Amino acid sequence: MRPFFDSLFSEFSRVIKENGKVYIFCDWRTYAFYYPILLKYINVRNMLVWDKISGPGSSYAFIHELILFAEKGTPCMKGSNIFRFPGFSGGAKKTNGEMVHPTQKPVEVIEKLITDSTKEGDLVLDCFMGSGTTAVAAKKLNRNFIGYEIQEKYIEIAKRRLMQVDLELTFKA
Ligand SMILES: C[S@@+](CC[C@H](N)C(=O)[O-])C[C@H]1O[C@@H](n2cnc3c(N)ncnc32)[C@H](O)[C@@H]1O
Repeated sequence: MRPFFDSLFSEFSRVIKENGKVYIFCDWRTYAFYYPILLKYINVRNMLVWDKISGPGSSYAFIHELILFAEKGTPCMKGSNIFRFPGFSGGAKKTNGEMVHPTQKPVEVIEKLITDSTKEGDLVLDCFMGSGTTAVAAKKLNRNFIGYEIQEKYIEIAKRRLMQVDLELTFKA
């Protein structure tokens, strides 16, 4: 049987459009594992660093997350590969709103990546959507969204969060 990440990244390459972008959140352990596999299928262009400013850890604190960035087509991204959101300094436990998933990302972080690489009406895919942060960000930015999640409880949470965004957008309009 083909190894999981080999199949996954090859499928990413199959489904993304010309000029489509791929972002893989990882850390110092998984980066070295993902990088050569992703490189087999898509042009890996950079490693982004989300600087969390402060964080937990006793063998030097963990204060950043790494994001492998790959794309099809001509490179066209502007800006630095390091970014920070001062309101979200701290470890993985720091997020916006209620903490409903152990590795939940702040919506603002995902909104930044979606804004950088898509326009309104584009399609965003998150195959491991957890509490639905990418779906929430996509909806707020008028992007279409496809997501997968293996655990029923997180699907329910994601649905609830999306309904909340719908409500907020209705009242804003
Ligand atoms: C790192 S978490 C994503 C957290 C998300 N970014 C958020 O903000 O809530 C990864 C999720 O992928 C799900 N998952 C793991 N294997 C999966 C699979 N084969 N298919 C779909 N979902 C899967 C896990 O249940 C977990 O909720």
